[in-house]
Amino acid sequence: MKILVTGGAGFIGSNFVRWVFERDGASLGSHRIVVLDALTYAGNLANLDGLEGNYDYRFVRGDIRDADLVSKLFKDEKIDAVINFAAESHVDRSILDPLAFVRTNIEGTQVLLNAAREAEVERYLQISTDEVYGSLGPTGRFTESSPLKPSSAYSASKTGADLLALAGYHTHGMHTMVSRCSNNYGPFQFPEKLIPLFITNAMADKPLPLYGDGKNVRSWLHVDDHSRAIMLILQKGRAGEVYNIGGAPESEKENVDVTHAILHQLGKPETLIKPVEDRLGHDRRYAVDYSKIKAELGWEPQVAFEDGLESTVRWYQQNESWWQQIKSGEYETFYEAYYGDRLRA
Ligand code: NAD
Ligand code: TYD
Repeated sequence: MKILVTGGAGFIGSNFVRWVFERDGASLGSHRIVVLDALTYAGNLANLDGLEGNYDYRFVRGDIRDADLVSKLFKDEKIDAVINFAAESHVDRSILDPLAFVRTNIEGTQVLLNAAREAEVERYLQISTDEVYGSLGPTGRFTESSPLKPSSAYSASKTGADLLALAGYHTHGMHTMVSRCSNNYGPFQFPEKLIPLFITNAMADKPLPLYGDGKNVRSWLHVDDHSRAIMLILQKGRAGEVYNIGGAPESEKENVDVTHAILHQLGKPETLIKPVEDRLGHDRRYAVDYSKIKAELGWEPQVAFEDGLESTVRWYQQNESWWQQIKSGEYETFYEAYYGDRLRA
């Protein structure tokens, strides 16, 4: 199958491409991949190092909103399936600049859908998030029929994209599908998200800015478990369906516990934790009921959080030059704009 992977130079996209070529024994050699990525601040060609020349893989730099480029790519490459990872993905940045999220996440998704329909692409998978369901109280889990109640510009724009993808099925009979996953962690994650930010700050003996009371809960899933789910949905998922993907109940953790686990593994003191002013509109708890994908496609998470966190911490220790390069320039500007006053308060 020839797959167009948009956003393939980002965290999850690049892990997915590597997983397909290097780990997915069942389909080894049977897939060809074209990555389309605009290389925004979050995109990094180093995430895909070593693939060119070794596998049936091609990288194209471009924006998913560029209708001419996207249409030409579908035709020239004879694409069979699309997985749309490309997005503005960080909630805190969506507080500072919501329009960027509307442009890529909503407009970009529709441009891709138009081109996919025109080219009669067989399958289209929209990569989405459990955040479209909003926030939970202390109990319960999101199912695919939970109400859509996004609370940030990030999750609102992802919700819009989901609905456009499903409209492609209802209106035009396209084989579109949506997967909604909980928080991912693993190698190559941009150090703005909780786990890589706290690992890299702790390694540099810098404060770990923990929002509010630190008791918000996230359901953590190793990115390899996510990749396996994505491939199953792409190949066997039903048209017009939504599939939730999430961490096991034991992987639902308060942020403060994740923070302690990171510090413990690095042998760093808890005095590095700096409680800071809460994120605006901070969702309290996410938890995902993944019984649909388990029943239909036989998927469930395999990587225990403690094991996955240990290997992730090790990866950041062994790849310091990768994240040191990122933590300069634009990153420093964002860090100061978002955290400067909080950390000084
Ligand atoms: P990321 O920010 O690491 O990567 C996004 C990639 O998209 C980057 O390579 C960037 O250059 C590219 N991109 C951005 N705008 C583009 C555009 N207009 N055209 C082409 N490329 C563009 O994000 P991620 O964490 O890898 O997330 C990937 C997808 O998974 C997103 O759709 C996100 O909403 C979803 N998701 C993420 C998580 C998570 O925990 N990170 C959880 C659930 C779902
Ligand atoms: P994040 O990794 O940004 O993912 P999301 O907001 O999409 O779930 O944040 C995970 C949790 O960690 C969330 O409850 C916010 C919290 N957090 C902090 O306490 N401090 C930080 O500096 C960051 C980035 C996140």
